[in-house]
Amino acid sequence: MDFWQARFTSGQTPWDRSAAHPQLLAWLQAGMFSSNLKVLIPGCGRGHELRALGQAGIAAHGLDYAPAAVALARAQLGDFPGEVELADVLDWQPDTPVDRVYEQTCLCALHPDHWRRYADQLYGWLKPGGLLLALFMQARRDSAAEGFVEGPPYHGDIQGMRALFPASHWNWPAPPYTSTAHGQGWAELAVVLERR
Ligand SMILES: C[S@@+](CC[C@H](N)C(=O)[O-])C[C@H]1O[C@@H](n2cnc3c(N)ncnc32)[C@H](O)[C@@H]1O
Repeated sequence: MDFWQARFTSGQTPWDRSAAHPQLLAWLQAGMFSSNLKVLIPGCGRGHELRALGQAGIAAHGLDYAPAAVALARAQLGDFPGEVELADVLDWQPDTPVDRVYEQTCLCALHPDHWRRYADQLYGWLKPGGLLLALFMQARRDSAAEGFVEGPPYHGDIQGMRALFPASHWNWPAPPYTSTAHGQGWAELAVVLERR
């Protein structure tokens, strides 16, 4: 947590687009979110996506374990519908299962040692038929060829994602998936998984 807290307090947040992710806006436009659905945003950071949903009348629930991020996201949300909770995504549980989880750069912020636990959390949070709207970070480093695991961001290799979110538990759409470039040289692969 200290690592991320320091990033926010020092303003070193190179992943931050200073605006809602274009894919979130595309999914919003496509009707993937609505005000009667419970929406969760784990690792919400500064909360641009919470605000965009709030502006559309959708009260999403943001989670982050860095107090500075929570304060920034609450300020960002202002009076728009929605809320932000200080919580560790590896432990937190909802009162009732949710309809949508918007996963943007939380998975890639976690060391892969924690991915199994996080993926199990995502599965447990969602209702059967609920959707995981995921942006899988594509940030492969050359050192991976020699076995080094470096990040964040940790590379979300598509084969690794298939293993983490197996077809026995998740319905996968057929590729190709939309890729959004990031100014840092990374890209994010947009995949909507249905929880079985
Ligand atoms: C790379 S940032 C992304 C923030 C935001 N999703 C965005 O794209 O701008 C990762 C975020 O996840 C949060 N985070 C990392 N591990 C977490 C954990 N175990 N529980 C809750 N939040 C976590 C960090 O504090 C940080 O805000």
